[in-house]
Amino acid sequence: MLGNFKYSNPTKLYFGDNAISFLSDELKNYGNKIMLSYGGGSIKKNGIYDEVISILKADGKIIFEDPGVMANPTVEKLYEGCKIAKDNDVDLILAVGGGSTIDYAKAVSVSAWCIEDPWKKYYLEEKEPDNKIIPVGSILTMVGTGSEMNGGSVITNNKEKLKIGRVFGDNVMPKFSILNPKYTFTVPKYQMVSGIYDAFNHICEQYFSGNDDNTSDYISEALMKSLIESSKIAVKDPQNYQARSNIMWSATWALNTLIAMGKTTDWEVHMLGHAISAYTNATHGMTLSSVSLPYYKHIMPYAIEKFKKFAKNVWDVDVKNMSGKDAAIEGLKRMENWMKEIGVVLNSKELGVTEDMLEGIANATFILQGGYKVLTHDDVINILKESMKN
Ligand code: NZQ
Ligand code: ZN
Repeated sequence: MLGNFKYSNPTKLYFGDNAISFLSDELKNYGNKIMLSYGGGSIKKNGIYDEVISILKADGKIIFEDPGVMANPTVEKLYEGCKIAKDNDVDLILAVGGGSTIDYAKAVSVSAWCIEDPWKKYYLEEKEPDNKIIPVGSILTMVGTGSEMNGGSVITNNKEKLKIGRVFGDNVMPKFSILNPKYTFTVPKYQMVSGIYDAFNHICEQYFSGNDDNTSDYISEALMKSLIESSKIAVKDPQNYQARSNIMWSATWALNTLIAMGKTTDWEVHMLGHAISAYTNATHGMTLSSVSLPYYKHIMPYAIEKFKKFAKNVWDVDVKNMSGKDAAIEGLKRMENWMKEIGVVLNSKELGVTEDMLEGIANATFILQGGYKVLTHDDVINILKESMKN
């Protein structure tokens, strides 16, 4: 294991079908004014809203409602949330939803008291927060992003056609997160498999970097195996608590900084996915699945040994009498079969990508340095073209 690192994670988790019973205890740590941020209404249909409201009311909290956080939250919604938070001087932002709502809550928490334009300060210039930060707590209803235990906050600027992810530090990460697998039972299948693939790809993004023997990679392999196993069960039986709870727990650990320790990490699939989303507003996990196979086939020649390890340890390929290349190809083949089995999108045309967008998407794709191959503009165009062929 190489590298020097600091490891800490300040988010307290409450997990299980009784997790909400701890909300009251947590609320005691904050003032009375609670901003309740949530999405487009799923929590009103499935009863989570009523459950949370009754706890807040029983605890004598003053509630400032902030509904309508959209998937891929926009900078306009961020400005709107900042106004609610600042005008009412709220003590806590309670985000009830998936990655979009929790990411957005973190953005509001650092932006409400910021005198500059937060889009410019935090997303374009990546400056650190130096103003008051409003604490965030989360109640997770959709699994995949890991936002419940990380500092990630992704905001979309439709005018500039940019979707930018920013990773804030410990001071912005949720103070607590409530994870009840049953809350995810009402997530539509398309969103569920998108979230599963998102979590799987978070692991790949960290796994496919570096050449040392690294404990983080062994943890990653175990998390991937658990996700593969449980995802097959969940697509057939979405109400299977054991599968949904394994998926929830694996997704949290897939992106809460643990498996990034000692790694340079890649994240290029996410850069491609964010650029596609900026042009199409497609569902995050599906943007990743649509480019993954072309991307991994493209970088495989630069990391045959790692792809062979992936084939053997994650996909149970018997690599004994195989060349590195054949083993690597077989591993990706099995990954493709699994992607087909759970039903993720394999063709970016299905997400609305058209030929005339390719140049723009390529220009909006940030090129990162931590993976096995630093992409050129032509590489990006070729990967995007491949993603339209399947
Ligand atoms: O808005 P509502 O009505 O709540 O509906 C949502 C939304 O339409 C629905 N949903 C959520 N929980 C549900 C439910 N429907 C029924 N029952 C429930 N229990 O699901 C839809 C998608 O929700 P969303 O929050 O958008 O999904 P996800 O969790 O995948 O979040 C995606 C966002 O997170 C960012 C993505 O880029 C995207 O903007 N990411 C955040 C990361 C981080 N913080 O580290 C990393 C990721 O790579 C990702 O980039
Ligand atoms: Zn992701």
